[in-house]
Amino acid sequence: MAKALVVYCTRAGETKKIAELIAEGIRFEGQEAGVVNVTQIKKETDLEGFDAYVFGSATYHGEMMQGMKTMLFLAEMLDLQDKVAGSFGAFGWSGEAAGRILDTMNNIFKMTIVSGPLRLKSSSLGGGIQMAQDYGRDIGKKMQN
Ligand SMILES: Cc1cc2nc3c(=O)[nH]c(=O)nc-3n(C[C@H](O)[C@H](O)[C@H](O)COP(=O)(O)O)c2cc1C
Repeated sequence: MAKALVVYCTRAGETKKIAELIAEGIRFEGQEAGVVNVTQIKKETDLEGFDAYVFGSATYHGEMMQGMKTMLFLAEMLDLQDKVAGSFGAFGWSGEAAGRILDTMNNIFKMTIVSGPLRLKSSSLGGGIQMAQDYGRDIGKKMQN
């Protein structure tokens, strides 16, 4: 069984809910998925040993949150090339964070991007639960390849 790490960065909790739904979707496909708050990632070795990585941050003031920026610098120290990647984030109107995270995973880490970033205004409205679980399913399927 392949293992995914879902890391979220949140202020008000919405991005955490999305993280948990994505992890459910990955598990529906028979893979392992752990969910951690970015505050638990203290050193690059905390990120080691997974087949897939899904990173998420809410958007504040047009950017990803500082905790996610710091974690991406830690991730840069690892060799994540060709690992499966996805990104996500809660947003209000512009939602830059998830796209910026995926840009880094693609351009710097050279990971295998499953699909575009998942941006949700709410995990519970407008089909958000289904969309987040489906995003996880797509990652889980890719992990089988
Ligand atoms: C002070 C403040 C600034 C925000 N700036 C943005 C922004 O620039 N773009 C955007 O799309 N949403 C913005 N939002 C909305 C948040 O992204 C939204 O509330 C999101 O659900 C928060 O996610 P979280 O619960 O994971 O922290 C802002 C919210 C606050 C309170």
